[in-house]
Amino acid sequence: MTQTGKVVFFVGSGGREDASAFCTSRSPQVGKIYVAPGNGGTQRFGGIRVDVKPTDIEGIVTAAKERKTDLLFVGPEVPLVAGLVDAAVALGIPTFGPDTYCSQLEGDKIFTMIKGREWDVAIPDFGYTGTLAGIEEFLADPRFRVVKRRGLRAGKGVTVAETKEEAFKAARTIIENGELVLFQERLSGREASAMRLSDGLIRKRLLPARDYKRALNGDKGDMTGGMGAYAPVPDVTPEIDDRIDAEIINPTFAGLHREGKRFKGVLYAGTMLTSTGPKLLEYNVRFGDPEWQVLLRLLLNDPYEVLEACALGRLADITLRWRAGFAICVNLVAGGYPNDYRKGDHIYGLQDALQVPGVEIFHAGTVLKDGIYYTDGGRVLNVTAVGDTLEEARARVYEAINHIHFADMYYRTDIGLT
Ligand code: GLY
Repeated sequence: MTQTGKVVFFVGSGGREDASAFCTSRSPQVGKIYVAPGNGGTQRFGGIRVDVKPTDIEGIVTAAKERKTDLLFVGPEVPLVAGLVDAAVALGIPTFGPDTYCSQLEGDKIFTMIKGREWDVAIPDFGYTGTLAGIEEFLADPRFRVVKRRGLRAGKGVTVAETKEEAFKAARTIIENGELVLFQERLSGREASAMRLSDGLIRKRLLPARDYKRALNGDKGDMTGGMGAYAPVPDVTPEIDDRIDAEIINPTFAGLHREGKRFKGVLYAGTMLTSTGPKLLEYNVRFGDPEWQVLLRLLLNDPYEVLEACALGRLADITLRWRAGFAICVNLVAGGYPNDYRKGDHIYGLQDALQVPGVEIFHAGTVLKDGIYYTDGGRVLNVTAVGDTLEEARARVYEAINHIHFADMYYRTDIGLT
């Protein structure tokens, strides 16, 4: 960072925000980095923590304005859906992230499916209801076994049921909470994360990534916020990526455009690669966590320039360049995550892990006290590695992990394998 450089203000406290701030701190254009609220890792690259919660919209925009922010980066979905970008833009702060209207694509899963049908996006068959009779009706059709909450649930509001009984239980719980339940046709295939940057005028394709949402090896266990990722994904060929654009992304942007809306930031399509082509499972309106961490390891551009170009409508000036090879991320989590887990355990071995070639470690649920890192959340660390092959990246990441220890540490050993 340089004394006279730009002021960048990151909102969030997880691995995605840490990786973004860490990589941006290397930009020769950047002078100061604030992270609200950040985590135990923020200080290691000279970032300054700001004690404001991401959900405190007024607090964030005031803090960003006071610090003469040149670029505000909103990492998580909750403040996006709650209107942070509109509030920041109203104060003249250049901001990376979509407005409140476009953020509904993540904030309201029923909205997305209704719009998807209207805009001719490749989506699964779906329906929604708020009654027990309605649930019975949907479940009489054996295709409807994916049960979703309408709103934000940190990736944990989805049940992909094996049986009618399991689907019924999940759906009943949702309506008992007074919410509508969304049913989707259960599709088979591999999932892939397709992200597109947009400056409101044009968009650019990021490398395809794959994340691992379930807690245990072999895609068993509870849904989590993400246990690991890798990129690029060889089975997302350029032809499949073209179909994702043609059948999912382009009709979505065209639909928004017809409504007079401009999406700025990153649109993340969670897709299923079915035998008849890619289908949209859901949209996110921010970078995937931890997919973005692996893409950042491969991105050769200055991340500040890329993020700023999206905020300022100058994405046409940017040619994205990628390192050849692969990147992988394995999340080290506190045992028990995504359910109850302990906090406050000493983290050992980070310096040794960082000696492994190609390795970088991003912080998520950590806290720094008297120079020592302790666990402070479910997803504790994102250990990443690059390699010329996926096998090399995998070998490096797990070698690095062998050096790290904290009580009850848990991670999947099959990231990049299946
Ligand atoms: N990795 C999944 C997500 O960011 O929602």
